[in-house]
Parts: sequence; structure tokens; C-alpha cells
Amino acid sequence: MSNFDLSGKVAVISGGSRGIGKAIAHAYAREGASVVISSRKSQNIMPAAEELNDEFPGRILGVVAHSGKQLDIQQLYETAIGEFGRIDIAVSNAATNPHFGPLLTAEESQWDKIFEVNIKGTYWFCKMAAAQMAKQGQGGKIIIISSIAGLKPSMMMGLYSVSKAAIIMLSKSLALELSGDNIQVNAIAPGFIKTRFSKILWDTESFRESIIKQTPAKRIGETEELTGIALYLASSASDFTTGAVFTVDGGFTLT
Ligand SMILES: NC(=O)c1ccc[n+]([C@@H]2O[C@H](COP(=O)([O-])OP(=O)(O)OC[C@H]3O[C@@H](n4cnc5c(N)ncnc54)[C@H](OP(=O)(O)O)[C@@H]3O)[C@@H](O)[C@H]2O)c1
Repeated sequence: MSNFDLSGKVAVISGGSRGIGKAIAHAYAREGASVVISSRKSQNIMPAAEELNDEFPGRILGVVAHSGKQLDIQQLYETAIGEFGRIDIAVSNAATNPHFGPLLTAEESQWDKIFEVNIKGTYWFCKMAAAQMAKQGQGGKIIIISSIAGLKPSMMMGLYSVSKAAIIMLSKSLALELSGDNIQVNAIAPGFIKTRFSKILWDTESFRESIIKQTPAKRIGETEELTGIALYLASSASDFTTGAVFTVDGGFTLT
């Protein structure tokens, strides 16, 4: 058995109806895990869960849960535990970007939204996962999807960048606090990946050209290119890895 094997493990992934979250869900299920995916909208999450269930029968569950709402997150975990009995892996992936523009033009309602979903929502998601993992007493894996925006500022993305930087420190602080429970906490910082979330960037010629020019790999990434690191961090292969941040960005942060 490879040390990347996830047989018998249970993973919860927020924002799993499409994009990076769905690609990670597919990779975990392929390696043997049961996977619970969540999103805000039933019309998005249920077809995604059904599609994955066709390939991995009985091992995928879709749950409607808003990642900025504490009660929704609690219900997400209760449903996951009710269905599969435990939580071994938690991937905080859902995020929002309510403001595309100069940081100094961000309104209070946009600050509130970004705090609610990207920062506090990630905190609740990790806190509840950690409580369950500690109760089970067999360790666990928490993975936070941050962004290169949390490492390097870029024009028009200031508010989002602040939130993504905050959850890198959340990840490191939790890594320290949870090491006694053998729970590893790590962050992934994707670069520009082709999803609906980033459509404005890859679908607008001037932005796309500028990104490609600044990326040593000379292209935009695909969601599947995040699955290798996500699998490593979910599996026993990463048992000595905690508090780290992994960029997957075609070298963008080098320039
Ligand atoms: N794409 C990139 O270039 C890129 C780069 C760096 C980091 N990231 C990060 O990667 C993560 C995933 O993004 P993505 O590009 O895969 O986006 P995506 O394709 O738009 O998928 C986002 C997912 O999150 C769900 N979602 C959105 N808001 C939510 C909320 N408040 N509560 C629960 N679910 C919610 C969406 O479903 P519903 O609409 O049904 O809720 C969907 O399943 C995010 O944390 C993003 O910041 C992306």
C-alpha cells in the first residue's frame, strides 16, 4: 500500500461543486477516500456529487452549506459524520472575492464579506474539523487553500490578498497549536488556475497576456495540477509536514 493511499479515510471539502475543490474531491476518491463536498447552491453541489458518485459509488456526499455561516459548517460536519462516521481530512477551499479594484476603494460591506467567508469561515471550518479529529484521537489533516495573492500583492486584488495572507497565518498558528493532537495543518497557494472564479483574469486578453508574461511556465494552470500536493498533504506521506505553504504557480512568485 502506498503512503498516498486514502482508503478508509473521510474527507470534507468546502466549495467542491466545481474548480479546484471538485478536482481535489475526485483525486481523494480515486485514492480510496469517502468525500463530502459542500457549496452554497443545491443546483451546483448535487449534480457534482452525483457525477462523482457515478464513478465512486456510495463514497460521495453533497451538502448545501455556506462557508461564511457557522451553523451551516456545523451541520456540514454533522451530516458528514452521520454518513461516514468520522473526519480525517478537511480542506477549506471555498472563498469569495467581493472587490476587484484598488484596496482603498473597498467598502465596509466588502470587508465584512471577505472576513465572513474567507477568514472567519475558514477559522470555523478548521476549528470544527480539529475538534472532531482530536476527539477521534487518531490525528488528522487540515488543508487551507490560500493563494499566491496572500504572498505577493497585485493590483486590483488587495482586499482578497489581505484575506489570503490572513489564512496563511491561521494555518501556521493552528499547525503549532494542533501538533499535540497529531493534526497537520498546511496551506496551498495556487497561482492562476483556469476556473470560473478567475474567469475575469484568463478571459480578458490584457490580463491573460500580462499573467502569461509574468509566469515562467508561460501558461495558466489547470485544476488537476493542484491535486498532487493536495493528495500529499492529505495522506500519511506528509506526516512530518506541518505549518508549510506550498505554491503551485508555474513560478509566478519567482518574478
Ligand atoms: N482559480 C484561481 O486562479 C485561484 C488562484 C488562487 C487561489 N484560488 C482559491 O482556490 C479556491 C477555489 O477556487 P476556484 O478557482 O476553484 O473557484 P470556483 O471554480 O469558482 O469554485 C468555487 C467553489 O466554491 C463554492 N463557493 C463559493 N462561495 C461559497 C461560499 N460562501 N460557501 C460555500 N461554497 C462556496 C462554489 O459553489 P457555489 O457557487 O455553489 O457556492 C464552488 O463550488 C478559492 O479559495 C480561491 O480563492 C483560486
